Amino acid sequence: MKTIQPESSNLIDGKAIADAVNRETATRVADIGKQYGATPGLAVILVGDNPASKVYVNTKVKKCAELGIYSEKIVLPKETSQPELLDVIHKLNCNPTIHGILVQSPPPPQIDEAEVVKAVAPDKDVDCFHPQNVGRMLLGDLTGFLPCTPSGVLQLLQRSGIETAGKNAVVLGRSNIVGKPMMALLSAKGVDATVTMCHSRTKNLADFTKKADIIVAAIGKPEFLRGDMVKKGVVVIDVGINRVEAPDAPKGYRLVGDVAFDEVAPKASKITPVPGGVGPMTIAMLMRNTVLAFEASFKR
Ligand code: GUN
Repeated sequence: MKTIQPESSNLIDGKAIADAVNRETATRVADIGKQYGATPGLAVILVGDNPASKVYVNTKVKKCAELGIYSEKIVLPKETSQPELLDVIHKLNCNPTIHGILVQSPPPPQIDEAEVVKAVAPDKDVDCFHPQNVGRMLLGDLTGFLPCTPSGVLQLLQRSGIETAGKNAVVLGRSNIVGKPMMALLSAKGVDATVTMCHSRTKNLADFTKKADIIVAAIGKPEFLRGDMVKKGVVVIDVGINRVEAPDAPKGYRLVGDVAFDEVAPKASKITPVPGGVGPMTIAMLMRNTVLAFEASFKR
């Protein structure tokens, strides 16, 4: 009988790679539990009722439960003042059952996010947003917290066997959460890519993307990267998660990335889907950082 071989695919399965990282994390949680009789704890703070943020926060809390991590979800009203939020963070900084603290971004407009980031104790900063942790990473020490989405992207590349050394990598977007730290990680010693950052004011952006071996798209614009902007064989990592109106879809919207997938995928040697690409990795790296915070608390 003839067996039907599955078609070879250029898809990077973020869900499968995240599952592998999460299995490693769950094992670490169980081992530490046996050794110290204690459990890692994560506090997730949501200010307001942004629908996408609500989904992300619930997904994080659910993943904690799956991996044996204790979690607290703290939902504050959208009119919460800056001092009220800082007070909640200060209490969590002193709470010994909590090893990681995350304030879901973006907060409502009355909140000064830069101040919030600085209020989280650096050793509980599992987002790696605090200037002390960002500085440490930029100076080349990759042994501490690493920012969740960029380090998730790096894991996707490395666990898919994609060579980065000497490759031309283009990062689209200059956000503090993705673009800037992505640039630092891709150019770090041991990763060794040659990195160009493009953003909304870049002139002739396609001139850069056409030369890229690796593109990380995090520009926040639906289907921004088109087929005619890339070369054949490119590796494309799509960080974007955009809700676009779709009256026929059950929820009235559908999720698309920053990459026009149908145009780019036929030219790409590897590409991540949206959803099911970078998203699950971000959460997997958050779980990993929480365990790292917990382990470090025993070494102090
Ligand atoms: N909003 C979108 N991504 C993130 C993230 O990685 N951390 C936090 N705190 N907020 C986000």
